[in-house]
Amino acid sequence: MDYTAQLDQAINRLHEEGRYRTFIDIERKNGAFPHATWKRPDGTEQPITVWCGNDYLGMGQQPVVLEAMHEAIDATGAGSGGTRNISGTTVYHKRLEAELADLHGKEAALLFTSAYIANDATLSTLPKLFPGLIIYSDALNHASMIEGVRRNGGAKRIFRHNDVAHLRELLEADDPAAPKLIVFESVYSMDGDFGPIEEICDIADEFGALTYIDEVHAVGMYGPRGAGVAERDRLMHRLDIINGTLAKAYGVMGGYIAASAKMCDAIRSYAPGFIFTTSLAPAIAAGAAASVKHLKTDQGLRETHQQQAKILKTRLKGLGLPIIDHGSHIVPLIVGDPVHTKKLSDMLLEQFGIYVQPINFPTVPRGTERLRFTPSPVHGPKEMDALIAAIDELWSQCALNRAELSA
Ligand SMILES: Cc1ncc(COP(=O)(O)O)c(C=O)c1O
Repeated sequence: MDYTAQLDQAINRLHEEGRYRTFIDIERKNGAFPHATWKRPDGTEQPITVWCGNDYLGMGQQPVVLEAMHEAIDATGAGSGGTRNISGTTVYHKRLEAELADLHGKEAALLFTSAYIANDATLSTLPKLFPGLIIYSDALNHASMIEGVRRNGGAKRIFRHNDVAHLRELLEADDPAAPKLIVFESVYSMDGDFGPIEEICDIADEFGALTYIDEVHAVGMYGPRGAGVAERDRLMHRLDIINGTLAKAYGVMGGYIAASAKMCDAIRSYAPGFIFTTSLAPAIAAGAAASVKHLKTDQGLRETHQQQAKILKTRLKGLGLPIIDHGSHIVPLIVGDPVHTKKLSDMLLEQFGIYVQPINFPTVPRGTERLRFTPSPVHGPKEMDALIAAIDELWSQCALNRAELSA
């Protein structure tokens, strides 16, 4: 086997399909978010404004978060030194899990190294706990959930995105006695639309199914204490397992599930993705705990965030640009062609110092390629004006359509 030729072939396939990913090397400026420095491949540097980050609230530079991380490093060193089972459970991990359980009004929470792993590890383990489990999964669920459901070897049914009637049809066709789990998200990050949480909880009750919700793009940002859309809609108690990340609105790193004490105990005991890996660094757990705690009370930051999203959407709509608006904080601007999307993104970066990553197939369907903006409380009027002026100019220059898509 010519291994190098095989690698070339695999990489060339991506180039041919226009799916080869190029990373933009940046250095964010602590205290000056969303400003950063772009380290060009030729070694030169350019100041840029980041418009596509998932540090939705700027918590990655919040002094209470940074202080907690510094303190933890000084107190306990760099890494945790072990898996949770073998010397890697520290007071920082326990404190963070208690903070998260309290956030979601659940008996317990379980930390993972990311929300990707939390989804994958939990969903691939549940069929071991409930033999014969049938999983009903929304068609647009994140790759981490798809992977967890796929790997578990159990029965799976995919319902059309947010289509509760289709979900019902699928449930009705199965053995009423079989254990069941419905898996979905509260905010779908590419269109920024919301999952029908209440309707899914109702249908789960009717069919005796468990519910699993991914609130990765909602925790910190929705609900009076930042527990997510289910908190906002007073539905948290109806969800069996809530998944979240500490890497986006909480600005640090890590993922978790919150659930009953028994559920967390069982996942803790059976999920290889939890058991056989080093636990989060204590400083990360400390920073995340400080962030979660802070956002339990900082409603002002959540309001500013929503306000920023509204302003950006209103201004883009004012230019007649085709944005998708489902009322969430995510602002997708549809370009509809992978080449144009990449070109716009390149021109924004090179000519205007505005960084927004192009989003292409397979992350979104072909023909809906887009720029996905994530306005935040750290984007001021100056940054907003510069973005609007740049997009307006480039849109005309590229002779793209100006017609608004409805939600
Ligand atoms: C819906 C959803 N779930 C899970 C994840 C994984 O989160 P993390 O970055 O903590 O692994 C992502 C990441 O983008 C996501 O969009």
